[in-house]
Amino acid sequence: MSKKLVIANWKMNPSSVKEAQVVFKSTITSAKGLKNVDVVVCPPFPYVNIKNDLKTKKVYLGAQNVSSESSGAYTGEVSASILSSSKVSHVIIGHSERRVMGETNSVVNKKIQQALKAKLAVVLCVGESVRDTHGEYLGFIKQQLHECLQSVSKAQMAHIIIAYEPIWAISSNGGREAIPDEFTEVRIFIRKILSDMYDAKCAHATKVLYGGSVGPEDVSGFLVEGGADGVLVGHNSLIPKKFAAILHICNTK
Ligand code: PGA
Repeated sequence: MSKKLVIANWKMNPSSVKEAQVVFKSTITSAKGLKNVDVVVCPPFPYVNIKNDLKTKKVYLGAQNVSSESSGAYTGEVSASILSSSKVSHVIIGHSERRVMGETNSVVNKKIQQALKAKLAVVLCVGESVRDTHGEYLGFIKQQLHECLQSVSKAQMAHIIIAYEPIWAISSNGGREAIPDEFTEVRIFIRKILSDMYDAKCAHATKVLYGGSVGPEDVSGFLVEGGADGVLVGHNSLIPKKFAAILHICNTK
């Protein structure tokens, strides 16, 4: 049984430090004693100190975004080195909610380069907005991988995690939920692309996660039938009971 990776994407929630501490504390409690799961919490930037405040080694800290520049006059941006000096170990890059704000594959690529330089683990999000019957969505994902990973070396791929998040399955988009078979198809496809870009060993070693409305009721399907190396959880990562259930299921699958 391989160790699963669970990323909690809090997005722009909760609305106060106090609430963030409550959710973070309950995440620490839920993660206690789970040997087969690594947990990464990605809070909004101003909350990154909660890990230091609550002194946990079990839960890793992630960010939801990073600047494509290294330093300087970029008002409102946060650089990769600021993140790594704040004990952030992971960063989500290319989330669809950022791509709709204008983040292109080339910007995502620049952000990845910055993150790798600062020794952050990158959670690269890919995924289509619609599933057509001709398989064009696969071409879309292929292009995302090629352009986002441009100039990323085989050695650097050890620090890249791919999260397949079909936009239509993300809870805030209100669409239908994905089924494990849909994930399986794309997981195999992603590994084929990585194998062509690098080699089979690298493709096999790269973690591929599923994200999009993951909850306690369907997480097992994505792990067991879908073969996911873990999950990226949005709204349910803020609901302590549900997130605890997701972590416990991941720990046993
Ligand atoms: P969701 O969000 O679990 O609320 O669908 C996932 C994500 O957007 O990362």
